[in-house]
Amino acid sequence: MPTLHDSLALPAFTATNRIFMAPMTRMRAPEPADIPTELHREYYRQRATAGLIVTEGVQISLEGKGYSGAPGIYTDEQVEAWRAVTDAVHAEGGRIAIQLWHVGRVTHPHVQGGTPGVSASALPFEGRTNIKDADGNVISVDAPTPRALRLDEIPRLLEDYRHATRNARAAGFDMVEIHGANGYLLQQFMSISTNARDDQYGGSMENRARLPLEVVDAVVGEWDAAHVGIRLSPMIKFVGLDDADGMEMGIYMARELADRDLGYLHLVEPDWAGGPELDDEFRTAVRDAFPGIIIAAGSYDRAKGTRVLEGGWADAIAFGRPFIANPDLPERLAVGADLNDVDFSRVYGGDAAGYIDYPVMETVR
Ligand SMILES: Cc1cc2nc3c(=O)[nH]c(=O)nc-3n(C[C@H](O)[C@H](O)[C@H](O)COP(=O)(O)O)c2cc1C
Repeated sequence: MPTLHDSLALPAFTATNRIFMAPMTRMRAPEPADIPTELHREYYRQRATAGLIVTEGVQISLEGKGYSGAPGIYTDEQVEAWRAVTDAVHAEGGRIAIQLWHVGRVTHPHVQGGTPGVSASALPFEGRTNIKDADGNVISVDAPTPRALRLDEIPRLLEDYRHATRNARAAGFDMVEIHGANGYLLQQFMSISTNARDDQYGGSMENRARLPLEVVDAVVGEWDAAHVGIRLSPMIKFVGLDDADGMEMGIYMARELADRDLGYLHLVEPDWAGGPELDDEFRTAVRDAFPGIIIAAGSYDRAKGTRVLEGGWADAIAFGRPFIANPDLPERLAVGADLNDVDFSRVYGGDAAGYIDYPVMETVR
């Protein structure tokens, strides 16, 4: 039976262990250029013992940006800066995937050059996002009603994903992960609570899955299926989402992705964000639908991760918050060491403090 510390052969490469780092927005890229800095380089380098790092969400275009300080992957300067990050991780023997992000409606004109965001439909919602005030302090603001993406804009959107994928390759990433989770653009299309379209992108499950699958096909066409993963969060209750048929949509997507031999399926379990706990029945249904590599994420510790790996429901576990405070998390889990606590006042925005200054374990001789 596999343990967290066993290697894992993904279609694109072999990860040295099954303790992956989950994508986490930290809002530290200076605006307006949204270019990662040497702080990002050091942060990811410190965490290179993860079997795979998935970067924070990285916007594919200005339209895809929702949070001040989130970096991009659509300008040459951004590509060059990410190259320094991937080089640093590779020099430590690590692997790193970039999470390709379009936030859809979870945004604010402040970070969009004055316009509201786009979504499947122009439905008002209660969501909020985080921007920075003139002094650089992170503040939470209401996200206004978005405008519905027009049919004639979809080819351009797909091209934005292709362009970001080309850039990710040029920047030296080992894979791309399409962000199809947590209530952002692609889930806004999948979800009945956010998609009221009456064209071929709305209505039936097949129609609501169309845009996410077109994005997958576009990104795969730009690289290949082995180097493309996707993150999904069926049933999450987040940024205004509350899906009655989330489970069915999750299984439908898993089957479609299996047909495409995608590099991995990254499943966000809903309980970390106020949703129900996933049961093993659902885990089994996803496993039956997707025989490839499954990564599970959401409030995992060593015991829960071991159980899910041993049950065969996932092949790797992505840890989020524990990696913020424990750059050497794999080593700590291996010896059962105590974990550092996260300083939640320093998670979003700011500088090196609470970002690259968490201590590694002291070696016991
Ligand atoms: C500070 C923070 C930022 C996050 N940003 C992202 C993100 O950019 N993309 C994403 O898919 N999930 C994001 N998440 C969700 C995490 O990837 C992960 O699924 C979640 O934290 C649950 O895992 P954990 O219990 O191990 O922290 C974020 C979570 C946290 C705590």
